[in-house]
Amino acid sequence: MSRVVKLAVIPGDGIGPEVVTEAEKVLDAVTIHSDVTFEKKHFSLGAGRYLETGDTLTDDDLAAICANDAIILGAVGGTPGDPRLKDANIERGLLLKLRFTLDHYVNLRPSKLYAGAPGPLSAPGDVDFVVVREGTEGPYVGNGGAIRVGTPHEVANETSVNTAYGIERVVRYAFELAGRRRQKLTLVHKTNVLVHSGGMWQRIVNEVAQEHPDVVVDYLHVDAATIFLVTNPSRFDVIVTDNLFGDILTDLAGAVTGGIGLAASGNINPDGTFPSMFEPVHGSAPDIAGQQKADPTAAILSIALLLDHLGLPEESIRVTRAVEADIAARDGSRTTSQTGDAIIARLQA
Ligand code: NAI
Ligand code: MG
Repeated sequence: MSRVVKLAVIPGDGIGPEVVTEAEKVLDAVTIHSDVTFEKKHFSLGAGRYLETGDTLTDDDLAAICANDAIILGAVGGTPGDPRLKDANIERGLLLKLRFTLDHYVNLRPSKLYAGAPGPLSAPGDVDFVVVREGTEGPYVGNGGAIRVGTPHEVANETSVNTAYGIERVVRYAFELAGRRRQKLTLVHKTNVLVHSGGMWQRIVNEVAQEHPDVVVDYLHVDAATIFLVTNPSRFDVIVTDNLFGDILTDLAGAVTGGIGLAASGNINPDGTFPSMFEPVHGSAPDIAGQQKADPTAAILSIALLLDHLGLPEESIRVTRAVEADIAARDGSRTTSQTGDAIIARLQA
């Protein structure tokens, strides 16, 4: 019997629609002979929609998105500094609202250096790690405010929220993932300075470690972790960290493993209460939008994460292998859709 998966597609702004088109092509190609059918529903959300209607994410949008099994998103946001978007707050009002409402407490960001990928590292093969970034807490929750604004005594507070419940569930996920990989887990924080939250992260990691004697655990301060990500990235298997550190580390991780055009991510609700969302790490890249210059690989690798999440590991591996083979053979510049087509040709080979 055929299985139907309802998929919400949010192409978004800038290069978002260009890369999502290629991701959808790959999804269609890899599942064409399988017994899974994707019922896709497209949602117009982002800076473009805001400029047209004044809406960022309505309750009706949220309800309609929630009715799906999973979500793919291109990128949302306009040109930074565009005065027309001053009050839109796309990042908070759309992206973070989705992640928080859908309880995406695992932000999964794999980094693998493929043979032939551009970047500062020359020895491919052994750089293969995953950052498990906490997705619903930290300084991103919007717990704060400003007073005496515009005066010399202006005060701005942005409080980092860390709960034992929130840390424990993401730490458990990271340990289980490490157990299925190379059994190594690195906690990244700044426990020497952020003693309250860092102390709690460290304590919970120590506690959960008792249940996973197979996993070797170590700890790095976030500043030291940035050094090792550049000088010795093969030392990492699974990194678990908070929302802010994970955001910053994963851009760096992307840059050292072939560039932001290759970095995929999943915003995951492991409990399955809400649909998980898969998206490239990059943004809407207004500087190259509409020119077919964007690399759709990150969006296509996000499809591999989606397929794995949906319990279709064979299809997921086929997408990853096709991307791997394509990267190894790339030379010269290509358009966005030429890259999508080249990956599909590898799938069909
Ligand atoms: P960005 O990731 O959009 O662009 C940074 C640089 O990387 C640019 O030079 C861009 O051309 C390049 N780049 C990005 N993706 C690429 C790709 N697939 N192929 C080739 N080059 C690529 O980050 P930026 O400029 O900080 O943000 C632009 C907009 O995107 C802003 O409105 C921002 O808020 C939004 N944004 C949205 C995200 C999302 O939807 N998840 C994530 C990050 C930013
Ligand atoms: Mg980021």
